[in-house]
Amino acid sequence: MLLHLSTWPEIDARLKQSRTVVIPIGSNEQHGPMGLLGTDWLCPEIIAHAAEKEADILVAPTFNIGMAQHHLGFSGTISLRPSTFMAAIEDWVRSLSRHGFDRIYFLNGHGGNVATIEAAFSQIYSSYSYAAEPCPFILKLKNWWDLPGISRLAAKLYPNGHGSHATPSEIAVTFAAYPDHVKSATMEPQIAPNGPIRDALDYRFRFPDGRIGSDSSLATIEHGKELIAASVKGLIDDLKKFDGE
Ligand code: NI
Repeated sequence: MLLHLSTWPEIDARLKQSRTVVIPIGSNEQHGPMGLLGTDWLCPEIIAHAAEKEADILVAPTFNIGMAQHHLGFSGTISLRPSTFMAAIEDWVRSLSRHGFDRIYFLNGHGGNVATIEAAFSQIYSSYSYAAEPCPFILKLKNWWDLPGISRLAAKLYPNGHGSHATPSEIAVTFAAYPDHVKSATMEPQIAPNGPIRDALDYRFRFPDGRIGSDSSLATIEHGKELIAASVKGLIDDLKKFDGE
């Protein structure tokens, strides 16, 4: 069930049988010369929407802008400051909680979001802690690449050149879902450099084409299909555990 394609009476009825909701969350940011700008929100959306076709789960609209200040040196990147992102996450959580959702599962597609999402969770929980009131919901953050079996599959598909940004695995997932938008580019160098992440100008200097440690050109549609199928299975299993908590 997709929340944005449902009516309020349908969500009312849904809440009588399940109070769990999945929010795909990501970022709209550069992904090297052949990765789509939407890669980090498309991946969790693609996986959650495919899982929704196989299992009885409710998926919220995709939270598609995240914390990507370090990518602002590349055209097309849109970023929220950490403080804005935290405030927006809190408002999403409080809106859903108000209706009765008590298990809110964020399926994340951007490593740069992790620290801020975790800080937002702590900020939200702290309001109950200081008031000595029970928190009426539990929050969970899961990166799609940390779903069961995915890191092993990525390591098998890409023993060299997986890297950590504009990775062939995330690009393969988008290519499988959007085959009309497959891009190609010359990788120069073949495997991008590694290094620390700081501000946008420093990032552009260290990683001139945007990639970190990866060879994006290894991505194929077939790999993407395999990664999506494994992620869907992993997500459904992980949600069962979350429901039982
Ligand atoms: Ni990414």
